[in-house]
Amino acid sequence: MQTIILDLSEISEDAHKKIYEAARIITKGGLVAFPTETVYGIGADAFNEEAVARVYEAKGRPSDNPMIVHIARASEIGLLAREINPEVVKLADAFWPGPLTMVLRKREEVPARVTGGLDTVGVRLPDSRIARELIRLAGTPIAAPSANLSGRPSPTTAEHVIEDLDGKVDMILKGPECRIGIESTVVDMTAKPPRVLRPGFVTRDDIESALETPIEQGGDAESPRSPGMKYRHYAPQAQMLVIEGAREKVRSEIKRLKTLNENLGSKVGVLLFEEKGYITAAHDFYARLRTLDEEGVDLILAGALPETDGIGFAVMNRMMKAAGYNIAKV
Ligand code: TXA
Ligand code: MG
Repeated sequence: MQTIILDLSEISEDAHKKIYEAARIITKGGLVAFPTETVYGIGADAFNEEAVARVYEAKGRPSDNPMIVHIARASEIGLLAREINPEVVKLADAFWPGPLTMVLRKREEVPARVTGGLDTVGVRLPDSRIARELIRLAGTPIAAPSANLSGRPSPTTAEHVIEDLDGKVDMILKGPECRIGIESTVVDMTAKPPRVLRPGFVTRDDIESALETPIEQGGDAESPRSPGMKYRHYAPQAQMLVIEGAREKVRSEIKRLKTLNENLGSKVGVLLFEEKGYITAAHDFYARLRTLDEEGVDLILAGALPETDGIGFAVMNRMMKAAGYNIAKV
């Protein structure tokens, strides 16, 4: 397949025409990779089963893993979900457009292929203007998982998408680097109380403040409610060890292990973020993992972020998965 790559780094009249071209591809059942504020997505018309099946194919992803459906206006939630309760409206008001996905009871019209056979659907209204314009012009909600090959880190730049999907999708919209860098928070609104299934930039605290009531978080590895979690997640080629403890101790342990392993002939990569630099950590996390893979390191030594902070917690969720829960405390 010949993938068309359209550069949208400068928003202009011309960009609008290009997004229109992309929207036409979606309407005709094609696949378009596009930027969002979290990570790039690979999108198809959510109501076109064949197109949705091709998304799984392009990613090399098991077909019972549910996809998030993206809308351009909050009112379009009614196309996908039934039982839109006041809590859902509160969260939509507070966080949309933005990095929050709400799991809701689905309407019959939403294909089982999109939801992995579940009777619920994940819905998100992204903040990215390019994404919203694409959905609006396509005139249909867009089902879109992250635009990486299965088993690779989520893509946060157009270059990452090109690496993974050139030749596998009809078009790649080349937009800016993703502002946030980790995937949206997924909250199950069918649970009582609601439950965060995947932590993200919108934190549990943020949601509790908006709802003015406590909610639950976690259990994602076991929970049948988050089927995406049962698949093997991105794992680097290298062994990865997370080192947890007081900042200075972590630093010196990383230094000690680095020297030790280098003396044994290993190529060692370090993943250590600035203290309190959680937003930068989220922004850089996946890109850093891609670079370390490219460099062909044998061992990645990663410094844990304090989990108490909301966004730090979301980054740690990804870091622990990448490391296969391989952790050392100092
Ligand atoms: O930020 C994001 O959410 C990005 C951009 C492209 O919007 N998308 C993304 O999609 O991360 P994906 O497919 O890589 O992750 C979707 C997650 C999976 O963990 C999946 O299990 C969960 O959302 N999910 C989707 N629909 C669900 C449902 N009906 N019930 C429970 N979990 C669901
Ligand atoms: Mg993904």
